[in-house]
Amino acid sequence: MIGRPGHAPVLLPQVLAFLRPIPDGLYLDLTVGTGGHAEGILEASGPTGRLVGLDRDREVLLLARERLARFESRVRLVHADYRDLRAVAAAEGLEAWDGALLDLGVSSVQLDDPARGFAFSRSGPLDMRMDRAGGGATAADLLRDLPEAELSRILREYGEERWARRIARRIGAARAVAPLTRTDALADLVAGAIPRRAWPKRIHPATRTFQALRIAVNRELEGLAEALGEAIHGLRPGGRVIVIAFHSLEDRIVKQVLRGSPEVTVLTKKPLTPGPEEVAANPRARSAKLRAARRVEG
Ligand SMILES: C[S@@+](CC[C@H](N)C(=O)[O-])C[C@H]1O[C@@H](n2cnc3c(N)ncnc32)[C@H](O)[C@@H]1O
Repeated sequence: MIGRPGHAPVLLPQVLAFLRPIPDGLYLDLTVGTGGHAEGILEASGPTGRLVGLDRDREVLLLARERLARFESRVRLVHADYRDLRAVAAAEGLEAWDGALLDLGVSSVQLDDPARGFAFSRSGPLDMRMDRAGGGATAADLLRDLPEAELSRILREYGEERWARRIARRIGAARAVAPLTRTDALADLVAGAIPRRAWPKRIHPATRTFQALRIAVNRELEGLAEALGEAIHGLRPGGRVIVIAFHSLEDRIVKQVLRGSPEVTVLTKKPLTPGPEEVAANPRARSAKLRAARRVEG
């Protein structure tokens, strides 16, 4: 976003057009991040619309808190995993809502912080946990502990990496000498494992490996379908749910849930994607796919 460092909300006008925020409405932002979409929703639903924002990353929530402070009691931010939506809704006394947004994946502030270890372009520890406070295995732990065959499966399934076996074998050989703990060491190893003629044209050769490890560390695909089902179930008749996915595995789950749910009508026959202007201004938006649905009446 021009003039403001951090995470630029992707497809914001489209999100607002589908969500149609109104005063008195209650909106859930299940991946509030630094609050870019939330800010847009609160502005559009002024002066009385309310928003409850969830994020599993405490550090990112602090930024959202700052950005959304001016909305005072209209906004409530909760450090939680969206897979716990049912428990959060019960604890917060939320029975039904007018809209829900899931903007999946990682935030730019997570990607851009070398200490978080998400980016191959920055030297840092191989951490990749979105919720560092919650403990759990880091990417370095997985690279140290998982059998080669399991690493290969993760790279193939979550990264759609055709050189998965070769990369896993290199990891096996490297860790026999010294543990793999740094982003740049892993990026170099992957680049060396893929024949140069097969390097992808527009992305770094380690992009898919990093994506796959991030998905595995954060168990990003587990429970997504159920959480989306919960978000739909709590919608008031006519309420909207919007999901932005950033890779095909996620998008496939979203498509299946929306198409398979008798509780909603799908509003996007094909997913919406950002135009060239948005991609030029924010290259990370390039793989975004937005799907929206409306809760049926009655
Ligand atoms: C793409 S960012 C959201 C950006 C936000 N829409 C904005 O405008 O700033 C995705 C966010 O989802 C959070 N996240 C990912 N998986 C989550 C989960 N299972 N539960 C809660 N938050 C999650 C990440 O920590 C990250 O902050």
